[in-house]
Amino acid sequence: MRLDKFLCDMGEGTRSQVKQKIRKGCVTVDGQAARKPELSVTSENRICVDGRSVSYVKLEYYMLNKPAGVLSATRDPDQPTVLSLIRDKRRKDLFPAGRLDKDTEGLLLITNDGVLAHSLLSPKKHVDKRYYAKVAGVVTEEHVRLFAGGLDLGDEKPALPAVLEIQKAGKVSHVFVTLREGRYHQVKRMFQAVGCEVLYLKRLSMGSLCLDESLKPGEYRSLTPEEIENLKDNSQNQENHKC
Ligand code: URA
Repeated sequence: MRLDKFLCDMGEGTRSQVKQKIRKGCVTVDGQAARKPELSVTSENRICVDGRSVSYVKLEYYMLNKPAGVLSATRDPDQPTVLSLIRDKRRKDLFPAGRLDKDTEGLLLITNDGVLAHSLLSPKKHVDKRYYAKVAGVVTEEHVRLFAGGLDLGDEKPALPAVLEIQKAGKVSHVFVTLREGRYHQVKRMFQAVGCEVLYLKRLSMGSLCLDESLKPGEYRSLTPEEIENLKDNSQNQENHKC
């Protein structure tokens, strides 16, 4: 790979910024100042910028506890995005694997692994997504039955059967919802379809990946190698886990 691309991929600046750094002699390869942006390097080379070692990372995986008020987007001119919360990211091609509404909290996978993201999100894979919600009004066994039957949301096809579990029924009900797909505003629209309003929504899991409850809203951590492996298996085998 070209030296300028290596540095650019690792977030050392835009292509023209890193070219400038290279030409100024700020970049060394195996201890020698490298003056040519097109110099071919591999991960075996020891590359430093201003004396600081820069290693190559191909794929990154972060679990974010998305706070309310932040957009599930890579960039936005006016509003904070989930990507702006990942402060020590190395790659600049990270994106959120799936979207949560601005006011929804909880598990969001941030990665640059397009293959994994695609297989987790593909409607054909039916990877479970589990949510916790507070809903205005009394949620009943009739609602459980309606969710299990596949609600008509006014889309081309009815929703796939979903599992609704009632934790507490009351003026404000506390529930868990498990979906096997990810349509726009799906949880809110499903409750709307049965005459209820979602007051609070948090995603707890996606396939085998469970939100680490020690992460406060806005906090994140890297996935463990085991979590990554399980997610990859998960996206192939359609195995799901309850967190
Ligand atoms: N369903 C919703 O309505 N909103 C989300 O953010 C996720 C699922």
